[in-house]
Amino acid sequence: MPNQATISEKSLQLVPRASGHMWHPMTAPAVNSLQAPLVIASAQGIHVTDTTGKTYIDGSAGMWNVNVGHNRPEIKAAIAAQMERISYCSTFGAMTTEPALALSTRLAELMQIEDMTRFMFSTGGSDAVETAFKLARQYWLLEGQPRKSKIISLRNGYHGLHWAGTAASGSPVWKAAYEPGIPGFLQVEGPYPYRNPWTSDPQQLGEICAGILEREIVHQGPDSVAAFIAEPVQGVGGVIVPPDNYWPLVRAVCDRHNVLLIADEVITGFGRTGSLFGCRRWGVKPDLMCLAKGINSGYVPMGATAVSRRVAQAWEREHPMAAIMHGYTGSGHPLACAAALANLDIVIGEGLTQNAAIQGAHLLERFQLLKGRFACVGDVRGTGLMVCIEFVKDRSNRQPHVPGDPFLVSFMQNCMRLGLLARMQANKLYLSPPLVVTRSAVDQIADVVEEAITSAMNVAVPERASASQPH
Ligand SMILES: Cc1ncc(COP(=O)(O)O)c(C=O)c1O
Repeated sequence: MPNQATISEKSLQLVPRASGHMWHPMTAPAVNSLQAPLVIASAQGIHVTDTTGKTYIDGSAGMWNVNVGHNRPEIKAAIAAQMERISYCSTFGAMTTEPALALSTRLAELMQIEDMTRFMFSTGGSDAVETAFKLARQYWLLEGQPRKSKIISLRNGYHGLHWAGTAASGSPVWKAAYEPGIPGFLQVEGPYPYRNPWTSDPQQLGEICAGILEREIVHQGPDSVAAFIAEPVQGVGGVIVPPDNYWPLVRAVCDRHNVLLIADEVITGFGRTGSLFGCRRWGVKPDLMCLAKGINSGYVPMGATAVSRRVAQAWEREHPMAAIMHGYTGSGHPLACAAALANLDIVIGEGLTQNAAIQGAHLLERFQLLKGRFACVGDVRGTGLMVCIEFVKDRSNRQPHVPGDPFLVSFMQNCMRLGLLARMQANKLYLSPPLVVTRSAVDQIADVVEEAITSAMNVAVPERASASQPH
């Protein structure tokens, strides 16, 4: 795809729309006027095939979500069987379906360690976040503290693109066109080991950043803060793995000031980090958890918000008649729930969490070797099958490549030519293949990345640049 910055109005007038009547998320429509999108026709396992017959490794697992791989017969059969019975039923009021009930029970079993006892279903990660914010605010209302309404999040955080999620997401790039946003949303600095002004010592960084959160809560007034939301490992913001002490310290800060802790596990949930849930790795129990993506590997759109016993009791013991004035036509969609049940059987039955840990460690090892070979590889980081390479112009001062830089453009084109689909945001390459990936496929991914770097360093800049999208 062409770089948005290289498109002139004049060139646009010359080119017919290549993308039909469709506008693409997070993309200037002009981009799709200049070059036809890659049209994917079919997929199997970790591979996708385009309409010309070219096959690629799906290095992003779709959008970090096709965790069990494409075209799984077990999931297709579960969806088809459910369609034979009923394809849609509302869950508003006192009505539901068997798969929705069964899924809530299954999730409660899987999340016993986190003490999540209730689940509100929705249709995606942004919905799951929106639901968590509304439940957090209503919780404090029910607890007799209606002023507790502010939401604090991290500067590199991403929480989807609904109105409140946009307000909570950190980057100004996502907000600028839609401001002013919702008041009462604040961001603080989170721990970014590779880029921070304070320290290279991870433990110290964890303490500093937990301290920043605490000072902000105190500054705002704890009686005005409803919740702090963060991703256990930041995904879209740069695959940023926090120091081991950060989440436990954050839990303690939230407890000290009576602030709810929301874990946005939309990417990290269901095994991707090498732990079934991201926060479990640090032994932290959040108050609310946002789930989507890996819940059913994207076979049918779905989200869920998990509610801890502590939060649920405000409704169940104290205010049993307080209605939750929130929900979606697609909440508890029977096809999405049937897909989720089959998907979770695969995740647990095939040990995909463990596989993510093993294959992710191997991918990181292979990328560390690249760091030794190429000066443009500034940082290599990740956990499980969330892995990132941060490219730099100059390793000594960590100066990043800017988006549209000829090296990055050429690198991404090389990846595609060599049969790897991966995501690039600014100067960061993200790899998050399906959790069923094998060691030999991981080696193939690493080989492609190595060759793509080598030829990008030598090759002249091609005319048609690859758009590095801001998401
Ligand atoms: C952490 C996090 N939260 C929320 C979302 C939004 O999910 P969706 O795109 O399904 O609305 C995403 C999407 O990538 C995400 O990574």
